[in-house]
Amino acid sequence: MKHIRIVFYVLFFFSPLCCLANPDMPIVAKHGMVVSEQKLASQVGVDILRAGGNAIDAAVAVGYALAVVNPCCGNLGGGGFMTIHLAKGDNIFLNFREKAPLKASKTMYLDAHGKVRSKQSTTGYLSVAVPGTVMGLETARQRYGTLSRQQLMAPAIRLAQQGYLVTTYDAQWFSDYAKDFRKQPSVAAIFLKKGQPYRAGERLIQRDLAHTLQEISDKGTAAFYDGPIALAIIKASQAQGGLLSLADFTHYTVQESKPIQCQYHGYTLISSAPPSSGGVTLCEMLNILDNIHLNRDNYDSLQTTRTIIEVMRYAFIDRNRRLGDPDFVNNPLSTLLSPAYAKKISERIKQAERAQQQSLPSLVHEKKQTTHYSIVDGKGNAVAVTYTLNGFFGARVIASPTGFFLNNEMDDFAAKAGSANKFGLVQYDANTIAPGKRPLSSMTPTIIMKDGRVFMVVGSPGGPRIITAVLLTILNVIDGGMNIQQAVNKPRFHYQAKPDVISAEPLAFTPESIKKLTGMGYHIKQKAASTSVESILIDPATGLFYGANDNRRPDGAALGY
Ligand code: DON
Repeated sequence: MKHIRIVFYVLFFFSPLCCLANPDMPIVAKHGMVVSEQKLASQVGVDILRAGGNAIDAAVAVGYALAVVNPCCGNLGGGGFMTIHLAKGDNIFLNFREKAPLKASKTMYLDAHGKVRSKQSTTGYLSVAVPGTVMGLETARQRYGTLSRQQLMAPAIRLAQQGYLVTTYDAQWFSDYAKDFRKQPSVAAIFLKKGQPYRAGERLIQRDLAHTLQEISDKGTAAFYDGPIALAIIKASQAQGGLLSLADFTHYTVQESKPIQCQYHGYTLISSAPPSSGGVTLCEMLNILDNIHLNRDNYDSLQTTRTIIEVMRYAFIDRNRRLGDPDFVNNPLSTLLSPAYAKKISERIKQAERAQQQSLPSLVHEKKQTTHYSIVDGKGNAVAVTYTLNGFFGARVIASPTGFFLNNEMDDFAAKAGSANKFGLVQYDANTIAPGKRPLSSMTPTIIMKDGRVFMVVGSPGGPRIITAVLLTILNVIDGGMNIQQAVNKPRFHYQAKPDVISAEPLAFTPESIKKLTGMGYHIKQKAASTSVESILIDPATGLFYGANDNRRPDGAALGY
């Protein structure tokens, strides 16, 4: 019997089963780390770092690669944000968020009675805003990269030409959206095989996309914004009721600014500035919490949870009312981020013993449709990128022969002040539509510094849940003392004031806590994850890089060298 047991242990420990990573242990590396939601894209990033590229080079290459191997979310037809810390000390925020077409108007989604026409802002060409990704990635490369565009785009072109094996995750969404794909021949031609969705393990070749990438690689942004790609999009848009015109593309700009910055317990946070609400809302929440001091020994206590929920409430109310594209509206940042304001809110939260708001509108349907990746190199540079098509496969249209999905980012505006969008966000005048305006975003690509050195890189998809997912991951590390993989994996909860429902992943709260919170007037609904935090932590003592791919996204990978 004893021998059998020994044989069993020997077999077990030398079998592949034993060597599966502990789900709560991060990947460690010394020279560079890339964490993205698709391992093939992470590999592209590591290859660029190995070839001598810096973190910005790798970020550009990963951005293009994800546009091929993560078709739901990686993109050429969307937009996003890049937060950069350069080894020499500069912090940079690149805004390549989409803009409303110049022919867009405040009331474009309203009927004659002033009611919002559902679906028009989420599906089809009327929901498409002017894409920013290509100009964003090329601007980053030109200003802060070191390698040629051809070198950085070659892996994506190869993946599109030679194809990649569809993952179980892709296959699930291809199948769920097959009905939409069938409605558009240009989509069906690429994403259906003999009329059926691709299955896991089948090779998806994207010839049109390879050709588009090659055009951009050869000719730069002009191919996209003042050339055949723009013309193809405009033609399709005009044929199907959209508003896009050539002026939208030739006028498109990427903006560089200072990121939002704040301090939390001695750490410096560098995050997204408006037109993202992410950095402001994150910093507002951390500023409030800085007055409260969560107790590490009692990190999962009811008291801590309630405090965090209330902090989310205050910050989201401000987000939804006050923030919008700074080119169009005044964002009262000095008030929202002032220590005095944070202190006032913290006092109120400490005094209140029950939930402070009671109405119960319906919950909204939501999935992961954006993608975040984090990169550090061995030279001291760090990059956080979150970019998106907004909805799954965006507007679910492809302008032939470009080969890529276009966004439905127009839905991030308030179609009408006070009405809810697809994320249930009830927003007001600061975020209503105007020609050339960028819709308010929740994307929160964030870098955290400690004593002048990069400590953490973090971000997520998930609409408004992005901000709370990033908050909780940071708190899990700084206040909860978890390693980065534990911090990323820990079940999360989200609250955005309206709808007045806390959505909690299974196991986020104990049954006991749910009972008590409900007794205090909170409304809790269990809901599967829609976020996927991709993060890196650098151990200040050793300088080693620890990468954590979210266990909610098994196709992703933290890869280092
Ligand atoms: O910019 C935003 O906030 C949204 N368009 C992001 C959408 C998103 O994360 C979708 N994932 N659930």
